[in-house]
Amino acid sequence: MKLHMQNLTKSYHSGHPVLNVPDGTLGEHGLEGLIGPNGAGKSTMMGLLTRRIAPSTGTVSLEDDTDLHTLNALQSHDVARLGLVKTNQRIQGFESLTIRDSLRLAATSHADETYRGVLTGSEQDDAIEADIDGYLDRFKFEDPDGFAKSGGEKKLLDILRCMIFKPKMLLMDEPTAGLPEDVTNEVMKMVGEKVKSKEMTVVIVEHDLELIWKHCKYVHFLSEGAILFHGTPKDVKKNRVVAEKYMGV
Ligand SMILES: Nc1ncnc2c1ncn2[C@@H]1O[C@H](COP(=O)(O)OP(=O)(O)O)[C@@H](O)[C@H]1O
Ligand SMILES: [Mg+2]
Repeated sequence: MKLHMQNLTKSYHSGHPVLNVPDGTLGEHGLEGLIGPNGAGKSTMMGLLTRRIAPSTGTVSLEDDTDLHTLNALQSHDVARLGLVKTNQRIQGFESLTIRDSLRLAATSHADETYRGVLTGSEQDDAIEADIDGYLDRFKFEDPDGFAKSGGEKKLLDILRCMIFKPKMLLMDEPTAGLPEDVTNEVMKMVGEKVKSKEMTVVIVEHDLELIWKHCKYVHFLSEGAILFHGTPKDVKKNRVVAEKYMGV
């Protein structure tokens, strides 16, 4: 699944646009990185793409195997139904649900899409429980039948809530900040598997450039609201604009 942006801008209050993308596409290369300094507009772009933020101008469209969907008239839950979901840079709202219930809610809220309508009610429930068991087996929480405790556990749960939805495209906003290194590695391994099997495409915002170079096939560089450069990690690493504006050399 791919995302196309056309004349996409966002301005707050009076001022200068914090995002301005005349023309751009994400998701053509399986696993892509989106990098840039703090305040460059990375989170704003992801919010616009998932319709959590309304654009000032422009169009976002989502291309899947069969159709091109214009997202302008849609709400973020409709966008999720089309298979596009986003993890959050800041985590909230895990206090009232246990880890399992939180995953159940994510799975059942779109069960028809997630399981592609092929299963009946009880088969669907069994499939959801099996998926949850699989994730909780792979990722160890201190109390898997209770609540997410640390910031890292909440962050991981947010990622798993997205995964259980079986997205066709996943946007990850600084997913590994606050995660222990072994969990980060396992998350990236899981994501890499789904990308390799062509179940989903991924765009990941990260400040950990080693992670970006290691996992991404293609990288977009955003600065002051504009995509200034994109290319393979090798090209981005040696690009002078990226080096000057971001890597401090
Ligand atoms: N709700 C808002 N109101 C006003 N300005 C905002 C708002 N959200 C973000 N901004 C501004 O937009 C710019 C881009 O922010 P953001 O997309 O969060 O950047 P990044 O994720 O790349 O760090 C920043 O200058 C930020 O201060
Ligand atoms: Mg951000």
